[in-house]
Amino acid sequence: MSYKQFEAIEKHAALLGILTAVMVSLGGLAEITPLFMEAHAVKAPANVKPYDALRLAGRDIYVREGCYLCHSQMIRALAAETQRYGHYSVAEESVYDRPFQWGSKRTGPDLARVGGKYSDRWHEMHLIDPRQVVPQSNMPGYPWLTQAKIDGADIQARMRGLRKLGDPYTDADIASAPDAVKDKTEMQALIAYLQGLGIKNEPAGGLGGSTGPANDGGEP
Ligand code: HEC
Repeated sequence: MSYKQFEAIEKHAALLGILTAVMVSLGGLAEITPLFMEAHAVKAPANVKPYDALRLAGRDIYVREGCYLCHSQMIRALAAETQRYGHYSVAEESVYDRPFQWGSKRTGPDLARVGGKYSDRWHEMHLIDPRQVVPQSNMPGYPWLTQAKIDGADIQARMRGLRKLGDPYTDADIASAPDAVKDKTEMQALIAYLQGLGIKNEPAGGLGGSTGPANDGGEP
């Protein structure tokens, strides 16, 4: 382009605006389109399994109660985070999370790898009244979770739905779901879910190794 043509564009605010918008859109497409392709290519590693019936029920309670409003489940690839929470999160860990619970709001700590950190009893006391175990906590209590029971038929329907979306539940998994959640309280389901976080979903390379997994899930 000649200097004259540049000048013509720069002197027409509307034309400059339109051409700028075109260039920004092209740049945006170049950045975003490959990410959409990649999302379909993300496959579960062998050690990442779909949620069993009880944990699936617990996950639904986590979403229903809005735990994500205060807790992220996404450890960034920054030293301060990996030292505190463990291996940074990778995309493959979330393939069975619909919707994923990455979040970014951290009133409380990240929970991506909280599984196994505390006993079931600790979680129960903490969820009934957090100040029993952490006096300075401002997390609300969820005492009603000890009362309500899990509905087996509902979980079966969810597993069937997830299977339609591609989760590899077998007929046996679905058939045995009501027994697996029989007489379980919402509290037990939520604790089972929490105790599985980061344990069941450990990335293929293991935790804490210096060689990260092949796909680090994009930007930290
Ligand atoms: C209003 C914000 C808020 C909400 C909502 C909330 N939490 Fe918390 N949570 C916190 C804070 C703050 C802490 C840190 C203090 C403590 O341990 O109680 C915490 C701590 C925790 C811990 C311990 C983490 C660790 O590594 O020590 C777990 C587990 C937890 N929350 C689970 C949940 C679950 C499950 C829910 C939903 C049922 C939930 N939280 C809802 C604020 C919240």
